Amino acid sequence: MTDREDRQIHLGLWLTFLDSTDWRNPASRAEELNSLAPYVELAQIAEAAKFDALIRGDGFGAPIPSATQAYAGSLEILPLLAALAARTDRIGLIGTASTTFSEPYDLARTLATIDHLSNGRVGWNIVTSTGGEENYGYDRIPSHAERYERADEFIDVVSRLWASWDGDAVQIDRSSGTFFDPSKINPIDHRGKHFQVAGPLNIARPPQGRPVFVQAGDSEAGKDFAARHAEIVFTAQREVFNARTFYADVKSRIKQQGRDETRVSVLPGLVFTIAETETDALQLSDEFHRRIDYDRTRVNLQELLGGIDLSDIGLDEQVPAERWPNASTLTRQQGRPQILLNLAAQDGTTLRQLLHALGTAHGHGRIFGTPEQIANHIELWTETNAADGFALSPAQGISGARAFADRVIPILQARGLFRTDYTGSTLREHFQLEQPAGTIESVGGPR
Ligand SMILES: Cc1cc2nc3c(=O)[nH]c(=O)nc-3n(C[C@H](O)[C@H](O)[C@H](O)COP(=O)(O)O)c2cc1C
Repeated sequence: MTDREDRQIHLGLWLTFLDSTDWRNPASRAEELNSLAPYVELAQIAEAAKFDALIRGDGFGAPIPSATQAYAGSLEILPLLAALAARTDRIGLIGTASTTFSEPYDLARTLATIDHLSNGRVGWNIVTSTGGEENYGYDRIPSHAERYERADEFIDVVSRLWASWDGDAVQIDRSSGTFFDPSKINPIDHRGKHFQVAGPLNIARPPQGRPVFVQAGDSEAGKDFAARHAEIVFTAQREVFNARTFYADVKSRIKQQGRDETRVSVLPGLVFTIAETETDALQLSDEFHRRIDYDRTRVNLQELLGGIDLSDIGLDEQVPAERWPNASTLTRQQGRPQILLNLAAQDGTTLRQLLHALGTAHGHGRIFGTPEQIANHIELWTETNAADGFALSPAQGISGARAFADRVIPILQARGLFRTDYTGSTLREHFQLEQPAGTIESVGGPR
């Protein structure tokens, strides 16, 4: 049985419409990768289905893509969310931004602006970034620990900047001619190891007080960071038992931080393909797996594991255990490699199976099924403390998102698992999160 006060689950939709393994399909709309229209269509489908939020990731490096690769370099997420704020009313807007390759004052301004323009619907997927250092003046990427240390200070600074205007600093009193109450706008005078920021911010306090904090790190440092700051936790979980272990672990770390763990939602990523019948679903799954580019996925796996060489290992062979690195020593990512190393450690796992896991959904959950089967999967995970909902990615693009809205949502609503209408208008209200009141002193992290 779930720990959630009510059984309502939370659903986010990834703003992705191009299936990277199927872009040659004439109906793929590949030409619109950098156009607004397909994202507006996705946004309106998700809002009509009462999703909690739209979500989009972001990267900061741009390796030269191979000729056949569909995804390399697309729209920057925050301006896209601002554009979608104008074409939606209630759905949340969760964008990704880096604490390693951004400046707190700039990001505080941008996120506050989108929160104002959307009347309080912004969430921030806080990433420490795993690449892109060559574009930000670094010879090497800062270490895993350095990136999380900087991220802690970053959160402290932006939280105090958003609180640098009291909620009632803007007066607009025409009779007295008072626009602002300057006594309610204060500098933050931050001097830390990574940042020096005087403040105040030059935008009034955002409608939500501050964006909803989202975080996705599966490493020890990542989970501790989530326990200190996250209100929504994304994670990559391929199967339910490990997902329950991760769920219990993160919730207990949050509790140890003196926070109410029932208020923090854990949303694994789930890439879905909808089919009319089970036979169709199996066929689609087979077709998909036949299209996996093993050579490119092997290169991705080697990079993810710190540059090891697996070129001498046959696809149907097991990789000798001594060839694997220790994930906690890796610089770029630690959590995702650990998930793959756990799979590799299972008896008889071949290189092909590992490349499947990475090639199908980058380590995330992957489902091919009828609307009923997908609803059952969602119910099983959310009813057994493996998840509080999902960050859904439609492998079939816009038609997949529409099929989910038309066929799976009604099943979840009929089972009392998902809202039939919005009861709030901000992202915080969708996730039953409190409004952070507080002053500069109270919101900032430990000093
Ligand atoms: C669902 C999900 C979405 C993510 N989105 C992004 C992203 O958009 N950009 C990014 O740089 N990292 C993204 N990450 C990676 C994490 O932010 C983090 O860097 C990664 O999990 C490694 O952290 P760790 O070393 O603490 O495990 C995502 C991870 C997950 C699970």
